[in-house]
Amino acid sequence: MDHEVFASHYVSLTSSDGPVRAVEMLARDGLVTFDGVHDRRSVVDLASRLLTMREHRDAGADGVTMIADRGSVADRLGYAGFGHRELGPHTDSSALARPPRLVMLVCVQPADCGGESSVVDGAAVYADLATHAPGLLQALKRPGTVRFGDPGYWGSVFEPTADGRMTVRLRLDGLEHFTEPVDEAVPVLRAMISRHVRELPLRPGQGYLLDNWRMLHGRCEFRGSRLMYRVLGDPVTSCVLPSGFVPGSLAVVGASSDGWDRP
Ligand SMILES: [Fe+2]
Repeated sequence: MDHEVFASHYVSLTSSDGPVRAVEMLARDGLVTFDGVHDRRSVVDLASRLLTMREHRDAGADGVTMIADRGSVADRLGYAGFGHRELGPHTDSSALARPPRLVMLVCVQPADCGGESSVVDGAAVYADLATHAPGLLQALKRPGTVRFGDPGYWGSVFEPTADGRMTVRLRLDGLEHFTEPVDEAVPVLRAMISRHVRELPLRPGQGYLLDNWRMLHGRCEFRGSRLMYRVLGDPVTSCVLPSGFVPGSLAVVGASSDGWDRP
């Protein structure tokens, strides 16, 4: 049986209205899941219907990056994806002024043990912060408080768009630099994010497509061979996808607190 998150965001992309429903799901939840993609050529074919691929340091000529454990390669800063350890929730290509809107990940081979993919809805984290740590939220929206990558991009964890929506951007892999006083609140932010992690285990041929401006993604530590294909890109012109999320669109129950130490 498919995992709950996979099942609740699933769209059959082989159906005639599949791509349209996928875009609707993406616009609503920032995430769509699919299956039936069993080889690299099929990944490229599917990706080309939904997104305009971005070039990436680690991608092949066809735009596909093979995400697998490559041993000591993962010890280098910025290469943690090529290891077997847990990968915390993050935005792909966060060092770019304009990260790719979409991340597609397809499972070729799951790990022998662990390695489950995970997602975090930035809209849910935002709503939780607005309710429980509004002071921290304001700090996380302040421009120029965080550097993502090196030399990277100076911005903020939450960044408003020109049309009144909100985007999220995060990395906590050692290539981020939080300025004071926001750096003191990073443990609170981590704790807040951990409340919204949803596991999304994938079987061979299954995959997800997510809005990289709204959803963070990561994976659990694993043992054994694990291979995923990843494609980064922006929506094709026929796919109208509003940026990020509407702040305040998700409600959170609970009392407000101005303290950064009570997530
Ligand atoms: Fe990633």
